[in-house]
Amino acid sequence: MNLSGNTILITGGSSGIGYEMAKEFLKKSNTVIVTGRNEQKLQKVKNELKGVVTILSDVSKPEDVKKLYDQVAKDFPALNVLINNAGIMVTINLQNHQLAPMDLTNEIDINVKGTIWMIDAFLPLLKKNKNAALVIVSSGLAFVPLAISPVYCAAKAALHSYSLSLREQLRNTEVKVFELAPPATETELLKNFKDSDMEGVSLMPVDKMVGVFLDGFANDKFEICPGQSSQLKFMSRFFPRFILKQLSKPVAAMHAN
Ligand SMILES: NC(=O)c1ccc[n+]([C@@H]2O[C@H](COP(=O)([O-])OP(=O)(O)OC[C@H]3O[C@@H](n4cnc5c(N)ncnc54)[C@H](OP(=O)(O)O)[C@@H]3O)[C@@H](O)[C@H]2O)c1
Repeated sequence: MNLSGNTILITGGSSGIGYEMAKEFLKKSNTVIVTGRNEQKLQKVKNELKGVVTILSDVSKPEDVKKLYDQVAKDFPALNVLINNAGIMVTINLQNHQLAPMDLTNEIDINVKGTIWMIDAFLPLLKKNKNAALVIVSSGLAFVPLAISPVYCAAKAALHSYSLSLREQLRNTEVKVFELAPPATETELLKNFKDSDMEGVSLMPVDKMVGVFLDGFANDKFEICPGQSSQLKFMSRFFPRFILKQLSKPVAAMHAN
């Protein structure tokens, strides 16, 4: 993929990985549109990143996805890259039985359904344009779960599987399908996690993580697993029980609370 001259839509670009991607793509002479659910956060992005286009839109609401598509297809018909990055992550004690059903599966609605709906809406436009690409942001936790975040990890495993199928289904088109599986990265996503939840995990600086993504994207590396993510993938294949046990250690602390 060319790193310049694209028209790129990034869902969840108001902080963290999406924000960093937007910043880097803007530096490289791309047209960049970012979305998010919070007007104030988007306004801050607009103030900080010269030239960025911001649109308020929630990927977990089909009506928002439709409205976003209509606006982008009208104002940015050259759109050739969609980066499905919007996501949330929480810890859930599955023994608690305290969450309302919708709260229990929020991560499925945003991380999985949101991605699938966005791709369904935008694929016809991407197919019309040259040098088109879809990026799905999964996680190293797609390969082995962190047991204290069970729904998040199930959602990311689903996205990994979906990416494999999507890539096969689009082989007869010119749309490339990338999966970025970040490792634990320094962003707001992990702000509510305790140090004990992250034992043995080294957080990757977000600029470094996005640097690895850009490298992979430029070289048509379709599955990009920066840092500890590639180790998680390796361990899940060759030492699955060991790595699951390691990542399940914080469950004891969760039960003690
Ligand atoms: N940080 C990590 O360690 C890590 C590791 C692996 C994978 N990832 C993945 O990387 C992606 C980006 O996360 P991040 O680390 O950059 O976290 P972040 O800083 O919390 O960014 C998440 C972004 O998604 C947006 N968002 C959340 N729900 C949304 C919705 N329903 N519709 C539209 N936008 C929504 C947020 O903005 P609003 O809340 O204002 O909507 C924000 O811009 C996520 O998919 C995450 O799972 C992160």
